[in-house]
Amino acid sequence: MLKAGVIGCGFIAGRHEDFAMLETYSHAKAYRRNPAIERLALVDRSRAHAEALAVKANGNVFDTAEEMLVQFEPDVVSICTPDDDHARTLAALMMHPKAPRLIFCEKPVCRRHDELAQLCDLERRGRTRVIVNHTRRFDPAHQALKTLINGSSLGALIHGHIDYYGGWRHLGVHVVDLLQFLFSKPFEPHEVAYCCPSRYADDPTLHVLGTIGGAKLRMTGFPEKYFQILDISLLFERGQIRLTDFGQTIEVLRQTVNAAAERVLVRDAVASGRGLREPIVHAVALITRYLETGDGALLESYGLAEAGRTMETLWKGDALHAA
Ligand SMILES: NC(=O)c1ccc[n+]([C@@H]2O[C@H](COP(=O)([O-])OP(=O)(O)OC[C@H]3O[C@@H](n4cnc5c(N)ncnc54)[C@H](O)[C@@H]3O)[C@@H](O)[C@H]2O)c1
Repeated sequence: MLKAGVIGCGFIAGRHEDFAMLETYSHAKAYRRNPAIERLALVDRSRAHAEALAVKANGNVFDTAEEMLVQFEPDVVSICTPDDDHARTLAALMMHPKAPRLIFCEKPVCRRHDELAQLCDLERRGRTRVIVNHTRRFDPAHQALKTLINGSSLGALIHGHIDYYGGWRHLGVHVVDLLQFLFSKPFEPHEVAYCCPSRYADDPTLHVLGTIGGAKLRMTGFPEKYFQILDISLLFERGQIRLTDFGQTIEVLRQTVNAAAERVLVRDAVASGRGLREPIVHAVALITRYLETGDGALLESYGLAEAGRTMETLWKGDALHAA
């Protein structure tokens, strides 16, 4: 039986989640729902936050990550602290003599090049593997889109448009990571313009024009003061993929010829449907499979190498903005 730890007991850890409902979005609840995870440990710099989550999740509270590693010896640890803490906590866990075998880190994995280099080096030299919660990678519906795009039925991408909010790095990381996951190619930013501030002082929302595999992509920022949005439209030679409501609604449209001999789009009901059905539950299932089998290949599309490529693209956008 396996033991899991969670550091940072806020929203994504599960402190506000209803544990009585089946639908799950949080780390603690996903661990609790997986029968291979027997015990759960919780750490927060606010003991009250950890205790509140411990009551819901039936977990053990520790005052520090150090205490949790030594006394609880978790097999996997989720890092759910704020963005600017991830790299520091990751490095501290990986350097510890009782380092867990796996760390499941919230996005973005780090903020700077030197942090990424240190984490890759620690992973190469140590026993701990790292995966990052780029949510959509764990979602079977988004995985099916990758297969669809890599097949030939839609043809090549002509161009794409994305409306997003919430900071180029903080929220844009989901868009960039998804695009690079779907197309297995880097998104190259070419032109960047300021849109508006985000909730994160050093991370404005940017308008970004770039290419992926030669096709133009436009990411248009939207001010959160009106509302939050994440909509993606990808136009191919023989169809369209529309992801709306943050990827919860997926529509695939295919080119057909109508009675007037015009080429039009028709919804493919089989390929369309709901996205993001509990990706965290799939992530924890993958985690337990890895811990039980030791098969590192299972982690390949979720690890530091992929997360690093996503961060490199975000840093290119930052550099263009600063220039
Ligand atoms: N993958 C996703 O779709 C997704 C969704 C939401 C949030 N997130 C990410 O999850 C992270 C947490 O977001 P949230 O909304 O849960 O934040 P939150 O503010 O609700 O919770 C953060 C918690 O971490 C604690 N904390 C802060 N610094 C700490 C430290 N050094 N050690 C221990 N505890 C510490 C805080 O007391 C708080 O309880 C962010 O990085 C965010 O980007 C990802």
